[in-house]
Amino acid sequence: MKRKRSTHPRNRYAEGSPDFAALAARYASFARYVRINPSTGRGSIDWRDYAATRELTRVLLDCDYGILGWWIPDGQLCPAVTNRANYIHWIEDLLQEFPAPGKNVEGGVLGLDIGTGASTIYPLLGASLRGWKFVATDVTSVALEWGRRNIAANPHLMELIELRSAAKNGGEDQEENHRLLVGVVKDEEIFDFSMCNPPFFESMEEAGMNPRTACGGTPEEMVCTGGEAGFVSRLIHESMELGTKIHWYTSMVGKKSSLRALKAEIRGCGATMVKTTEFVQGKTSRWGLAWSFSSAGAVKSGSGRSCFGTGTSSSGSFSFVLEGIDRKCSALEVLGDLGRHLEARGVACKIDAASFAITGTPGDQREGFDQRNSDGKSEFKATLFQQSPGCLLVKIWISKAGRSSSLLVSALESSESTLKEKLSVST
Ligand SMILES: C[S@@+](CC[C@H](N)C(=O)[O-])C[C@H]1O[C@@H](n2cnc3c(N)ncnc32)[C@H](O)[C@@H]1O
Repeated sequence: MKRKRSTHPRNRYAEGSPDFAALAARYASFARYVRINPSTGRGSIDWRDYAATRELTRVLLDCDYGILGWWIPDGQLCPAVTNRANYIHWIEDLLQEFPAPGKNVEGGVLGLDIGTGASTIYPLLGASLRGWKFVATDVTSVALEWGRRNIAANPHLMELIELRSAAKNGGEDQEENHRLLVGVVKDEEIFDFSMCNPPFFESMEEAGMNPRTACGGTPEEMVCTGGEAGFVSRLIHESMELGTKIHWYTSMVGKKSSLRALKAEIRGCGATMVKTTEFVQGKTSRWGLAWSFSSAGAVKSGSGRSCFGTGTSSSGSFSFVLEGIDRKCSALEVLGDLGRHLEARGVACKIDAASFAITGTPGDQREGFDQRNSDGKSEFKATLFQQSPGCLLVKIWISKAGRSSSLLVSALESSESTLKEKLSVST
């Protein structure tokens, strides 16, 4: 299959678009929207049919990202999965190349999604793909209610995503009561990144209707004073106040002319780094804009933490990916295998099937394990994330006290090779 140049190389669909015929065979709810070309056997949908595009998003999230029971009410902006995932992967690149300097890794990556929408698409993708934590904000009661439902339908992601209203009490209806960062971000919070897909337009007339696609979008989602330039300009202004509390501020931008003006504005406000990228989907281009106030010299890749891939548990957390797992083997079975591996090495485990996690303590008190900090609490947490069918991300966090237990550290570190051997997956 020919690689799609517009798609991020780590995107699930980088090697080719989803196979609609196969999806229709698997999901009867989707089959009703799919026409099969008798000579090629390929399936297609009517992109002008909102119900069809929404059902496509639902089945892709279910099938390829393990995001279950997703839904949005009629007319709410329906996200295209490929392009939303591209934004997540771009942030991943930014964090990998320019990680937050000297930040404690124990809590993992924390992101802020400004304007998450009823779909809550970015936190669901970021949490399921990477195990990132999110605070997700919005101002409308529809977005907050459906965001709550979409998160609740995914118990394995629930503890990673917090929904927060950005409207001052009772001020949902007036734009002047809508906050972006100041008053939304709490004093004690430090974020690795913020992201935002802003309302792009100044009026619904300007938003118009793309005759080729039907993605919905209510005035609250599509329109704000000053359009995207006004929205992101407010974000830039407020980012100056928060400074390094958020390491990377990012936003999607819909027009190249806005991008130029916003970049100039950022340069004038003392940012140390400004990055842009282009997201292409079909005939539409969007841009990613990122800026930071962190000291540029201190954040070059490798000087901070590694957010991805195999790492060392001496820093408190590491992760690994299990690819090529037999599709009949469920994540729960893998969780059981991990528990048995740890128990066999003297680690007392508690499995939480609802959140696909194992917590516990080492049984090596006589071996120099520092119990002064322990007081019977779990000393590690291993969580499984289904990235796609047959592909699991295992994220492991070890507490400070837990790191003084060589038994625990070696049991957790050896879990990667044990699981790969057990599951006969590639090493
Ligand atoms: C274009 S929609 C994006 C929805 C979703 N993130 C997506 O990509 O499909 C913009 C969202 O921003 C929300 N919004 C508008 N002003 C906001 C504010 N001050 N703080 C948080 N969200 C806001 C709207 O209600 C809407 O849900």
